[in-house]
Amino acid sequence: MHLTRLRLHDFRCFASADIEPDPSINVITGDNASGKTTLLEAIYFLGRGQSFRQSGPRPAIRAGASAFTVTGDIAVPDGRSHRLGVSRDKRGIKYRRDGESNTNRIDLISTLPLQMVDPNVHRLLEQGPRYRRHFLDWGVFHVEHAFFPAWRRFRRALKQRNRALKSRMSKADIVVWDAELVRAAEIVDASRRAYIDHLYANLPDQSAKLLGDEPVVLEYDCGWRGEDGYGAALAASLDQDVRAGFTQQGPHRADLRVSIATAAARDWVSRGQQKILTTAMLLTQARLLYARRQVRPVLLIDDMAAELGARYRQVLAEEIAGLGGQCFLTFLEPSLVPDALKDGAMFHVEHGTLRRG
Ligand SMILES: Nc1ncnc2c1ncn2[C@@H]1O[C@H](COP(=O)(O)OP(=O)(O)O)[C@@H](O)[C@H]1O
Ligand SMILES: [Mg+2]
Repeated sequence: MHLTRLRLHDFRCFASADIEPDPSINVITGDNASGKTTLLEAIYFLGRGQSFRQSGPRPAIRAGASAFTVTGDIAVPDGRSHRLGVSRDKRGIKYRRDGESNTNRIDLISTLPLQMVDPNVHRLLEQGPRYRRHFLDWGVFHVEHAFFPAWRRFRRALKQRNRALKSRMSKADIVVWDAELVRAAEIVDASRRAYIDHLYANLPDQSAKLLGDEPVVLEYDCGWRGEDGYGAALAASLDQDVRAGFTQQGPHRADLRVSIATAAARDWVSRGQQKILTTAMLLTQARLLYARRQVRPVLLIDDMAAELGARYRQVLAEEIAGLGGQCFLTFLEPSLVPDALKDGAMFHVEHGTLRRG
């Protein structure tokens, strides 16, 4: 699975750009504010349907233009190819796969599995559970195929139950959703547990290569309390839910905490080590996806050299090159590019113009 062609139109600083990436390593260099992160963001739009930047997709339309388009051709392992498109104008965002107008985000995510390491990757360790759940569920989605239909059912039933809670309906009208919630939650939870078991089995190997012998611990919190299952937890928290006006427990509140040895990872490891640890987790996910589904996700690594010394850069570069998938990495200067990444394509950006080096 890799991107064979990428075209941008009126996307941030790019009036237009058209590249044919290498199926393995693609290195993008350029000064600050030249458009490196923007290129990765465009690819990310294709595989996720949204930006990783904090602001929504609207500001991604080039100043003075009325719409952006990003188009990507994806070669899939069986020899076929797909064309993905994301466009945004003032009315909204549109997705297309092979010209189909009823394409949704899930179609993009399924067609172009991609994973991103950005300079803020440490927020996976530092911030609330949302990012970690996101990280976890991306992997679960691609590997455990029972997950997504159950998750969608869960979300639907949750919405109904929350609506009943918010509009102060009777308890009977609230708990009518519980059976469906429990059925879906059990599948979601079992899928997550199965995935985490695999992650756990593979993570130490990956993290040892990058971090040394520090044992990495993953702690899964399923999102509800008590030993008697989700149904009992829902029943026990009904009065609290009524007071709060929403469902407080469930797989929508799950978390995956990461720690090294006994201290929580965020408490004592340096920024550089946090970056290495989270990158190790992402690389493990990528390996797992290949082992389980023979899919190699596209990796986007922004400003790889930031916060990392030469030795870490080299080790990480070897791991990335060893994965064998397609990867896009950005660097401020060519001198920061580790040797292991020099065999692929080199691109250089300058004020929204892109040329192959
Ligand atoms: N909507 C937009 N229209 C035009 N230019 C934009 C828009 N959004 C961002 N930019 C500009 O795009 C440039 C590239 O940003 P970025 O990709 O973050 O650079 P880099 O990662 O190389 O430091 C910046 O100069 C920024 O001001
Ligand atoms: Mg940048």
